[in-house]
Order: sequence, then C-alpha cells, then structure tokens
Amino acid sequence: MKAAAIITAGGLALAGAALAQDAAPFGQEEDVTYAAQLWDDMVEADLAGEGAVQSFPYPGTDPHGMMLETFYASATVEGHTGALIVKRNYGPEGVTVDQVLGAPSEHLGAVTVMFQREDGYDPETNNWFWAKYLPDGTLDRNPNDMALAGLVGKGADAGCIACHQGAGGEDYLFTTDADLAVAE
Ligand code: HEC
Repeated sequence: MKAAAIITAGGLALAGAALAQDAAPFGQEEDVTYAAQLWDDMVEADLAGEGAVQSFPYPGTDPHGMMLETFYASATVEGHTGALIVKRNYGPEGVTVDQVLGAPSEHLGAVTVMFQREDGYDPETNNWFWAKYLPDGTLDRNPNDMALAGLVGKGADAGCIACHQGAGGEDYLFTTDADLAVAE
C-alpha cells in the first residue's frame, strides 16, 4: 500500500514536469534549431570553435566564470541580422590570464550568448535570444533536462532573463548601455 502511494506521487511529479516543459518559453525544438544555426554563424566568424579569436581575459564571477571574454559583434540567422554578444566563461576558480591565453580550450566552461532577434520575437525582453553552449557547440541543459536556448528564465525566478532584467538601462545588458542595434 505504502509502495503504491509512492509510485503514484512519483508519476504525478513526472506529469507536472512534462507540462512545465511544454509551456516553457525556451528549450523547444525551434529554439534548439535556431541556436544551432547561430553557433554555425559564430564558428564561421571565428567567434567560437577551434581557432576562435582571443581577447585579453578579465576576472569574472558566478554564474559566468572566473575569467571572461566578451565580444560584441553581429550575426545573421534565417535572413535576420542582429547584435550578437558572445561571452566565454573560463574556470576553474583561481585560473589565471596566462593559463586561459595559453590553453583556452582547456579552461573554457561554456559560451553564453545573447542575439537580438527580429522585431516581434519578444519585444518585452528586447528581442534577445539567449543560449548557453558547451565548448563543443551543443547546448547546456538545466536540471529539468531542458536545453538552454530561447527566452531562458522569462517569468521565472532564475535563469538568464530573470537575472539580466536587473541589469539597468532596460536593455538586459550588464556590461554596457550602448545601443547595439544593427541596422538591417
Ligand atoms: C545571476 C545573474 C546572471 C545570470 C543567471 C546570467 N547572467 Fe549573463 N551576466 C551577468 C553579469 C553580472 C554579467 C556581466 C559580466 C561581466 O562583467 O562581463 C553578464 C553578462 C552576460 C553577457 C554579456 C552581455 C552583458 O549583459 O553585458 C552575456 C552575453 C550573458 N551574460 C549571457 C547570459 C546567458 C545566455 C545566461 C543564461 C544561460 C546568463 N547570462 C545568465 C549575470 C547573469
């Protein structure tokens, strides 16, 4: 009797998780496809992947990493050209500039990206598309096994948007208030 009750509770929890995933504004098939195209464009532009251009890393902190590099560029996905910000997140704690520059791929933990999509994608959050890639270009996943691409953290208490909405300037950007919009 007791065992049956536990199984039922587990089943309900799973059903709840499945519903939450269906409704989530990120991690859907179209987000994953879009993120893959964006990654290809970044590799093409030498912003990601083997032989990517390096800049001088600077100290960072959680959640992004202990050493960071940030690039401001643009990309074109499905015919739309928009502002692209690529942040490389290096670790572990205590990693030095020389270690990162000497062997970037050994210290790269993740590549977090904001790409400004077409008007009407999500005006409320400035049309930014969010993605967190692992160094090989596959998407990182949250504890619910959802791919981190799309409006990650929208309407939630954690995640990209939940944190970046407090960045000031209403542009969701921490590092700058510059107008990065790309003329099409
Ligand atoms: C808990 C807060 C927090 C969360 C969650 C977070 N970020 Fe950030 N993010 C920051 C901070 C702080 C900076 C500025 C870091 C620096 O000094 O370079 C930043 C910077 C960035 C930048 C450079 C543009 C800017 O805002 O200046 C990108 C791109 C970025 N984050 C992407 C992401 C993505 C994608 C996610 C989700 C997978 C994410 N971030 C989750 C706090 C957060």
